[in-house]
Amino acid sequence: MDRDEATERIEELREQIRYHDHRYYVLDSPEIADSAYDELYRELRELEAEFPDLVTSSSPTQRVSGAVREGFATVEHLAPMLSLDSHEKREALERFDRRVRDALGEEVEYVVDPKLDGASVELVYEDGELSRASTRGDGERGEEITENVRTIAALPLRLRDDERSAPELLAVRGEVIMHADAFEQLNERLLAEGREPFANPRNASAGALRQLDPSKTAERPLDLFAYDVLHVEGAELETQWEVLEALRAWGLKVNDLPSRVSGLEEIVDYHEALRERRDDLGYEIDGVVVKVDDLAARNELGETSHHPRWAFAYKFPARKEITRVLDIVPSVGRTGVVTPIALMLPVEIGGVTVSRATLHNREEVARKDIREGDRVRVQRAGDVIPQVVERLEEPERERGEPFRMPDECPSCGAELIERGPFTVCPNALECPAQLAGRIVHYGSRHALDIEGLGEETAKLLVEEGLVEQLADLYALERDDLVELPGFAEKSAAGLVEAIDASREPDLARFLHALGIPEVGATVARTLAGHFGSFSTVAAASDEALQEVDGIGPRMAEQIRLFFDNEGNREALEALLDEVEPLESERRTTSGPLEGLKFVFTGGLDSMTRDEAKQRVEAAGGRVVSSVSGATDYLVAGEEPGSKLDKARELGVEVLEESGFLDLLESGPTGGDQDE
Ligand code: IVH
Repeated sequence: MDRDEATERIEELREQIRYHDHRYYVLDSPEIADSAYDELYRELRELEAEFPDLVTSSSPTQRVSGAVREGFATVEHLAPMLSLDSHEKREALERFDRRVRDALGEEVEYVVDPKLDGASVELVYEDGELSRASTRGDGERGEEITENVRTIAALPLRLRDDERSAPELLAVRGEVIMHADAFEQLNERLLAEGREPFANPRNASAGALRQLDPSKTAERPLDLFAYDVLHVEGAELETQWEVLEALRAWGLKVNDLPSRVSGLEEIVDYHEALRERRDDLGYEIDGVVVKVDDLAARNELGETSHHPRWAFAYKFPARKEITRVLDIVPSVGRTGVVTPIALMLPVEIGGVTVSRATLHNREEVARKDIREGDRVRVQRAGDVIPQVVERLEEPERERGEPFRMPDECPSCGAELIERGPFTVCPNALECPAQLAGRIVHYGSRHALDIEGLGEETAKLLVEEGLVEQLADLYALERDDLVELPGFAEKSAAGLVEAIDASREPDLARFLHALGIPEVGATVARTLAGHFGSFSTVAAASDEALQEVDGIGPRMAEQIRLFFDNEGNREALEALLDEVEPLESERRTTSGPLEGLKFVFTGGLDSMTRDEAKQRVEAAGGRVVSSVSGATDYLVAGEEPGSKLDKARELGVEVLEESGFLDLLESGPTGGDQDE
């Protein structure tokens, strides 16, 4: 394909991909199969790789940039991002409504919509292209987080203009949220990696937006609803309802629950109806925002120093209640983390009876100083487990003894270990409390991808005593399974076959499948690439592990603890009688760049940071993040950062992009080799 043809085809592919992204992520109504979409995407990637100068920042392939930043710049919003006056009392709503009518006359139309509990952002589109995104900050200025926001699939990088022409300049206000299922998965992953989980989806969204490395944001599935225009040039908008329609037409995702109402009673009805649906939405909302529909009337009303006088947040009653702790018991989760659970006098919180709440971990119990018998405030958010928020003082009452974690696992009796604030059962592959979860993880899509090994099945296999350790999976026969509820001849045979097909797994997937603390898919891949075989990984010393790029002392320790645990060793031995992980090609073996260390600063024209890293590693070299005396080359792209100065200071050889490309071609000796 020549350049002109490529230019045309690339534009065509981008149009199609944008269209399908919009159908899938915004409208939630895809038109083509995932595989057909993947095919379009792959073709675009290939063409862009062949013609790198045709890559533009609004191309759908450019959502995740490889560059890690050192901090966030502060930017001024195009218009102030005010906060909302809010209350849960009906009287407060009545006062708001009265003031509005006194100013505008009795016939006022409002738009009501859910108050989303996420992180508020400003998005700026110039000539239809996303040019900047920032956090709310203090309302006047926020942190510039464009690269991170670009990773949100529901967000158009370019406004659509087929239905309504896109304005020259547009500043949109919206809320970045994390759906409940994504939030739970994220927390499970964090726990599996021995890290602290987030208390609620709002914190998780805000945390994801503040990652310095956009690829980390991209790993956390965020969504974004747009609900307000802060500033616009080149479009006329008269009502809030029209604002929502325009945002929708420009391809932004707009919540489908807003309604146009007039009169107090209609607001109250909407509030009540929404409150009933609150737990079924799949994302957190904490009230109803009431806004005057007519934008000109808004100007008339104006604002106080903090709040607009044309909007009010009518909040839902807090989902917190007071009750008493009857007992605190340790509970072993499916990743081995032992969580202290408060058993409480049952109490109704927002329509649900609650009698258990999490106290998170050893340190949290100590920090909040919760003991048996204490009066506590308990909070419920969405579908997640209720939590004990705080203890209420009762000076007259004699208190119980402070809670102490047991020394031994309540499920398998193994000696518990401490991992930061958490207490963990190290007997990962044998402990009955962990087994069902381990099985599900073992067969999950990014691990050994065994179809039919879901949660229900894993639980059954454990309950029926068919599987006491992972190796037992391979001894399952069709006749064992047919007996179980939910199984028929075909599904039983299918599962046995799927398990059988996993006997020669890819090393990285196998390492991931074992559920070693701290070892997710990425670390597993690195380990496989570095060590090459399962036995070398399992035998690697602490020091050897720490030599691997991206593995620090804490991770190395957790990996060693896993392989040193007696129960795990036995379970692994049995498993390796059934399964033979394939040797992995060692990335560090040989190549023109063997043993050389590279650092990158600034952007490259011909490839992304990730691609550059892959190329270096494929040639036997390594990429590290900071410059030191041991660095062999600093590759300086466009707009290099402070690493360039550091390299010059230390006398590290600096390469421009062209020099780097030469080096990749022919190695450090230079010149063409004929061999
Ligand atoms: S309208 C001037 N609508 O809630 C207010 N805000 O304390 C214009 N929020 O951070 C904002 N859902 O960003 C509006 N449907 C919604 C909202 C919403 C959530 C946020 C807002 C602010 C907070 C108010």
